[in-house]
Amino acid sequence: MSSALDYGMRFGHTGVHGYNLKEAIQWHIDTFDMHAALDLGHNHGHSPMVQFVKVGDSRIELYEVKNGYPVSLHDMEQYICAKWTGLAVVEYDEWLKHAKEIGTKIIFEGDGMCMVNDPSGVPYKVKRDWLKEDTIYRGGKWGTRVESFAMTVYNIEETAFWYGEMFGFKRLPEEDYVCPKCGQKVGIIDLDNFRMELFENPDAKPFTLMDFEYFVGCKHLDIYMKDRAGWTEYMQTLKSQAPVIVSMANRQHPELGPLPHYVLDNNNYLMEMSDDGAYDRDKK
Ligand SMILES: [Fe+2]
Repeated sequence: MSSALDYGMRFGHTGVHGYNLKEAIQWHIDTFDMHAALDLGHNHGHSPMVQFVKVGDSRIELYEVKNGYPVSLHDMEQYICAKWTGLAVVEYDEWLKHAKEIGTKIIFEGDGMCMVNDPSGVPYKVKRDWLKEDTIYRGGKWGTRVESFAMTVYNIEETAFWYGEMFGFKRLPEEDYVCPKCGQKVGIIDLDNFRMELFENPDAKPFTLMDFEYFVGCKHLDIYMKDRAGWTEYMQTLKSQAPVIVSMANRQHPELGPLPHYVLDNNNYLMEMSDDGAYDRDKK
């Protein structure tokens, strides 16, 4: 075995913190025609409530953090942290019309893309889907999938190397751009048409575990893998070896099976891994 892809990697879910879970679920239903999926209830560490929403085969894990503190887009540029979840929509124009009709808070509108806020002020990027193939990964009225995850990193190439070795992401230098809002260089890496947007800020302030638990915003990215035990051994042979921060792989959830584990990436940001298939039990 010579690549992370041998262990069956794919985009799993993004995690998002908000103030009110019910409100967040309803917003995803109303805005993107998602549906409420697996409810993890109180089973997830300190977080009082966790539930998934799903569209097609894409999932977002919503956490309720009643006493969380807000983080602005400006903060996200200055700290090592997740920035937003990106959605791609086939019928983008129709979707945008709908979003405006229902009063979605649009904070930026560009050519074939926009940024919106959920009720807690968490940013989401929405764009016209560039992927031509009719994959099974879309769902809802407008053909929607989770397409990207943005984060602030110290260095694009070092981060691309780390995510490449660890999970099989491919660097797409031809897709690089400079963010018109913050002026930061953005590098793109791809895992089977799911992309990470890496915003480069060499002077970013470090991320802390407190931030990870209590800020309101996009929180984490989870990669699903078919052979997590095999990958864990593989990972320890790499230059990128990641310290395992929390492993719950030997703890069983009644519906999900083995729980995820977390490792620190090269920016000291927490990444989550889960067994593929576990989260498919929310059939619909
Ligand atoms: Fe998660």
